[in-house]
Amino acid sequence: MKDWFFDEAFSAACPRFHDRGWEVVSLPDDFHQSLVKGYHEAFFKRRSAVPEGPDKRAVVNTLGLPTLSLNDDPAFDGVRDNPWLLAEMERFAGCPLVPSRRYGPRVATRGAVLVPHRDKPQTHLLGASITVACDTDEPWLMVLENPDGRRDEVDLLPGQALLFEAVRMRHARPTPMKGKFYAGIFVHYLPADPGRLSPEFHELARRFEGAV
Ligand SMILES: [Fe+2]
Repeated sequence: MKDWFFDEAFSAACPRFHDRGWEVVSLPDDFHQSLVKGYHEAFFKRRSAVPEGPDKRAVVNTLGLPTLSLNDDPAFDGVRDNPWLLAEMERFAGCPLVPSRRYGPRVATRGAVLVPHRDKPQTHLLGASITVACDTDEPWLMVLENPDGRRDEVDLLPGQALLFEAVRMRHARPTPMKGKFYAGIFVHYLPADPGRLSPEFHELARRFEGAV
């Protein structure tokens, strides 16, 4: 488990990819509709949804509430390498990237929170948080803390993606979700050129690997 020292140290050693650290983009309609179709088929046919957490809090980031995962559903195998999403992330980051991981759709239930955290430095430097579908009574706001002191609250609508620096910026949805469900997909990226990361970052990654 990553501890406080590594969490803060990784954030400090992260290169800065974007002035503000985050941006919201709208998916092309056909891409969004393909995600919605896959979500409905996978979830409502109960083909592959499995509960995650609260025992997996570090992974799922919910507190005491079930989140259903469709991580293993083949309908979403292509999302990680989606060319439009990769191009948007590269524009956001200002450098060539390599997709690393895809999670979800994860379906959060009423009362869920996303605890404040930074993502895994080895694979999650840049992240896209896509809202596939939701039925909420009020916005379930994502709070982003920039190390320079800026704090932003972002409301993501279905079909929108939050592109953000997921290790440098602590993020959370601290207010319990009010509504029926919230389904999101998360894709993570690394710079194609490891030289984009500082020797300090690589050294921390080496020590982190040894600490887990
Ligand atoms: Fe995260």
